[in-house]
Formats: sequence, C-alpha cells, structure tokens
Amino acid sequence: MRIILLGPPGSGKGTQAQRLVERYGIVQLSTGEMLRAAVAAGTPVGLRAKDMMASGALVPDDIVIGIISDRIDQPDARNGFILDGFPRTEPQAEALDDLLKRKNMRLDAVIELRVNESVLLQRVERRAAETRARGEEVRADDTPEVLTNRLAAYRAQTEPLIHYYSDRRRLLSVDGMMTIEEVTRAIDRILTAVVAADNQASRKPGPARRNAASKPTVKAIAKAATKPAKGRVRSARQGGAKRPAKARKPSRAAPRAGKRAPAKVKKRAARVGRRPAKKLTKKRAKA
Ligand code: AP5
Ligand code: MG
Repeated sequence: MRIILLGPPGSGKGTQAQRLVERYGIVQLSTGEMLRAAVAAGTPVGLRAKDMMASGALVPDDIVIGIISDRIDQPDARNGFILDGFPRTEPQAEALDDLLKRKNMRLDAVIELRVNESVLLQRVERRAAETRARGEEVRADDTPEVLTNRLAAYRAQTEPLIHYYSDRRRLLSVDGMMTIEEVTRAIDRILTAVVAADNQASRKPGPARRNAASKPTVKAIAKAATKPAKGRVRSARQGGAKRPAKARKPSRAAPRAGKRAPAKVKKRAARVGRRPAKKLTKKRAKA
C-alpha cells in the first residue's frame, strides 16, 4: 500500500499516518520529521533547512526529493509507505511520479484532508501546549506567526497538487473536520475499497488484468467507500455535502469521501438505504 496524505498544516496528516502505520504495517515517511531530525543532528541538510523551516517556508525541492528517493529504497519501505507532507510542490509530484515509475511501483491513493483554516491555529496551539506539558521541545514553527506563513506556502505551492492529482483521477477527499476517529474510519473505508478494486481488477482475464503500474479508478473507489446510510462517506457525484464556509473551492473531479452530509442529504440517503432495490426500479420505470 502506497499512500499520499495531503492537507494544510494541522490538518491531521501526522495523526492519521501513525494510525495507518499500525493498521497496515507500513512506514510513515514524513519529510517534516526527517528534516527536523536533520536540523537537530546538525547535518548539512539540516543546516540548509533550519531557517527556512523556522520561517514557515518550504525547503528546496532538490533536498526533499533526495531524502524521499533514498528513504523509499530502505528495506522497511518495501511493503509500502505513507507519504506525510510530500509531495508539496508540482516539481516534487512530478519527481515522485518518475521515481515510482522507475521502481515499477504505483500509488494506491492520494487522500486529501479538508479542514477549515479557522481550526488549524487552535489545533497547532493545542499541540504546542501538549508538547510543552510533556516537557518536550515545541516545534519552532508552531507559533501563530509562522503558521500564517506555512498556510500561505500551502495555498501557493501545495494546493495546486489537488488539481494535479484530481486531473489524474487519483484524488479522494476526506472531511478532516470530523473527529480523529471518524477521519480514520473514512480513510479506512477508502483503503478497503482500494484493496477490493485492486483484487477485482487482478481477477480480470487477458489485457484487462492489472499490471504493477495500473490502478483502479477513483470513481469506483469512491463508490465502494460510500456508505450513504451513515451519511459520512459520500462521493461528489452522489451530491456530497456542500463544503463548509471559508473552505476553499472544491477540487475538480475529486470524489469526496468522509464528507459530513447535511441533514437533508442524510435523510434522503437513509430513506434510499431502506428501500428495497426492486421497488426503486419499478418506480423509476413508471416515471
Ligand atoms: P511538516 O512537519 O510536514 O508540517 P505541516 O505540514 O506544516 O503539518 P503539521 O505537522 O503541522 O500538521 P499535520 O497535518 O501533521 O497535523 P497533526 O496530525 O500533527 O513540515 C514542517 C516544515 O518542513 C514545512 O513547513 C517545510 O518547511 C518543511 N517541509 C516538510 N516537507 C517538505 C516538503 N515536501 N517540501 C518542502 N519543505 C518541506 O495534527 C495537528 C494537531 O491537531 C494535533 O494536536 C492533533 O492531535 C490534532 N488533530 C489531528 N486531527 C484532528 C481532528 N480530526 N480533530 C481534532 N484535532 C485533530
Ligand atoms: Mg505533521
């Protein structure tokens, strides 16, 4: 399983990545963590990255691409990995595509965590307070001022990746405003659907059989990951919930999974869920 977690600072990438590590036995590759370790160790990479990270700017592409390229080759990444905080720019995404192609690997899912900007500061401040309470060193970039810069960098350089991956029919979006537990469940449904679509495709005979570089369609995955009766996981085509106020524009062609559905949608979904399939067909035939 190879997954990208995409989202602004504080959206929950690290939190969900750790849960995926436990659930799937794959490694978390967090460029932020690796860079912080390099800064702490005073390596040449750390020395180059230190001030840029402290200011909330992105470090140059060549540094992070090099880090990821080396890390993917490590034996513990053979079973799969979760990319947390990488790629963050289009050149990084293109470099990752090349890298995976050369290694004959394929991405299973790009999962975007959608969170209102208004809650990000609270989350980052809470994380800083909890870190301080444990007697650990607080991240140099966990301040309101630096968070403003990190968000600006996210909007300018990372948000275009939403289109990059939705244009390539790879992107699945999860409502990151739900509780940590609910977000985990929504991601789990997506990944279960990915595995199921994968197994189904590999059972197909002849040229339709999947090769190492092919992938199930994102539409099929969103459909399989959708559980309308609970109103939590909905694809855009099924009339997924409107995005919350202040959230940015919805991604083009990105099926939304794990989106909170408004009461009206939930009610309709529950109603549809209860109706026997035969009756529905008959009714439609009459109409
Ligand atoms: P990085 O370390 O990747 O930081 P980030 O992307 O800014 O994100 P965070 O780690 O702050 O947030 P998160 O999404 O992981 O949220 P978390 O789970 O912790 O990067 C740091 C810096 O390194 C960058 O600014 C850049 O300089 C450099 N860098 C890294 N990668 C780079 C790259 N590829 N290219 C260039 N430069 C790069 O959650 C936050 C808090 O919220 C926690 O307290 C958590 O408990 C809580 N929380 C999580 N989910 C929920 C929820 N659903 N509800 C309520 N609370 C929640
Ligand atoms: Mg993180």
